[in-house]
Amino acid sequence: MELINRPRRLRQNEAIRRMCRETRLSVDSLIYPIFVDETLTGKRPIPALDGQYHYGVDAVNEAVEECLAAGIRRGILFGLPAEKDAQGSSAWDKKGVIQEAIRAIKAKHPEFYLITDVCMCEYTDHGHCGILCGHEVDNDKTLEVLSKTALSHVEAGADMVAPSDMMDGRIAAIRAILDQHDHQNVPIMAYSAKYASAFYGPFREAAGSAPSFGDRKSYQMDPHNRKEAVKECALDVEEGADILMVKPALSYLDVIRECSEAFDLPMCAYSVSGEYAMIKAAGNAGMIDEYKVMCESALSVFRAGANMLITYFAKELAGAIQKGD
Ligand code: PBG
Ligand code: ZN
Repeated sequence: MELINRPRRLRQNEAIRRMCRETRLSVDSLIYPIFVDETLTGKRPIPALDGQYHYGVDAVNEAVEECLAAGIRRGILFGLPAEKDAQGSSAWDKKGVIQEAIRAIKAKHPEFYLITDVCMCEYTDHGHCGILCGHEVDNDKTLEVLSKTALSHVEAGADMVAPSDMMDGRIAAIRAILDQHDHQNVPIMAYSAKYASAFYGPFREAAGSAPSFGDRKSYQMDPHNRKEAVKECALDVEEGADILMVKPALSYLDVIRECSEAFDLPMCAYSVSGEYAMIKAAGNAGMIDEYKVMCESALSVFRAGANMLITYFAKELAGAIQKGD
């Protein structure tokens, strides 16, 4: 047979396949989510997220040390406060759970890069991501509490803030308050294209942040939309975001591709709790090879155009990257 083009030539063995890989993962691209519970001492398994833990402020460095041992140097913090109210005022309390956790981590591991999730849903007694006016979330009132919260995280020592609320104008509002307080060098990672997704279910159970009525469709994006994601990213770029994010990851690879091509900023993807839970459950049931599906899923996000990934599998992926899988 006179076949000139034989793509299989480059697939003959592991040596040549690895040389020709188009996508390479690095531990430097991985960010690990850490849940800190103000009412807890020590650590406790999270039932909704097999293999993940809640940490007390006293024990949060255990999570950090496991990351560092695996080569992961970046984490994103989520807080479970002891007290909630309508405004979510524990979110910006100087002695709040996130603020204390930041100080505890930075005292021991200043080299660990700390990103904080900035949102109100874990702190409000109604579980919505902002201040209510009737049954609606009031956009502009929410900007004030988000800004105060972001500032208090930075004043406690956070390296970067990541607003996940989806209010209009939050990036500009947060940038303004940080700059007014001389934090010009603290970057903002914007949850720019965050969809109203059923994949957040396990997280809401883990964080105790499910809305007590209604849903988040009036602020998070409609999963039917693609062009709207480009619009959200463009607004965040204009408002001063440093990093953009698409969330969830696996069901939104088209959005990751499009937005990473359309903008010059680094693109983060968040492989959310439901994505993790599905792989875990199918793996535990013996239906799929958990390790291989984990690797393939993470890889697909980078192939789509993401530059970094928030994932509950960060430590396991670090091992896989080291092995060259
Ligand atoms: C807070 C927030 C959520 C997630 C990250 N930040 C939940 C939500 O919007 O309801 C989801 C993360 C995950 O599912 O892993 N707004
Ligand atoms: Zn929220």
